Amino acid sequence: MRVIIVKNAEEVGKRAADLIEQEMKQHRNPVLGLATGSTPIPTYKELIRRCKKGKGMDFSTAITFNLDEYVGLPGTHDQSYRYFMNHQLFNHVNVNKKNTHVPNGMVRGMKAIQQSCDEYETMIDDVGGVDMQLLGIGGNGHIGFNEPGSSLGSMTRIKTLSLRTRKDNARFFKSMREVPRLAITMGIGTILKARKVVLLATGESKAQAVADSLEGPVSAMCPASALQLHRFATYVIDKGAASKLTLDTYEH
Ligand code: PGA
Repeated sequence: MRVIIVKNAEEVGKRAADLIEQEMKQHRNPVLGLATGSTPIPTYKELIRRCKKGKGMDFSTAITFNLDEYVGLPGTHDQSYRYFMNHQLFNHVNVNKKNTHVPNGMVRGMKAIQQSCDEYETMIDDVGGVDMQLLGIGGNGHIGFNEPGSSLGSMTRIKTLSLRTRKDNARFFKSMREVPRLAITMGIGTILKARKVVLLATGESKAQAVADSLEGPVSAMCPASALQLHRFATYVIDKGAASKLTLDTYEH
């Protein structure tokens, strides 16, 4: 695995934007897997800056698939991930919104939900798969909303959020009661299908999860450890997130 350790969150954003830009230039219709959360915001800011400067950053033919969405929040809700993506990236670059996909959290009924998840997988496959998947990592090692214990072969499906994740995300809601209990998420198997994966992590609160995922065993108890099985997985992390790593072979 390639591990790039940089000074701070801003540098993580720049290095990640470099990787995304290089990848996009290699494809007529780049297919990007995108993530929400605080961590990728500097990356999106940098992509927007490069797009506005008109220096070759072009989203006009890009196709995007987001990792996850809360169940029960419409895209107009300011905590939905559709809303996040529109406001943090899509509204500010020349992407065709019709080509941006976020799982639908408003489908009712277990059967209909699973059908819509299966359709999400089919949509990804129909455009030839994800070229580069961007990921954050939860303090508990989750990727997407694949909480500890998730099957390493899982595909897009509904998941119950762990209490830890709900607490971590409560800062964005008025009260803990409002934090959704369920989400639709790409599975670990879906993520492993992407041709390249780039995981971002910043801050000491991620240090243990980063160390477990890179230097611990492959285990469903640390979902990000499944990336050890991927051929082209890159971590771009800051010094805080790297602070519990022990090997001396990483790029600085
Ligand atoms: P964060 O979330 O970027 O807000 O820390 C990451 C995640 O939970 O995957």
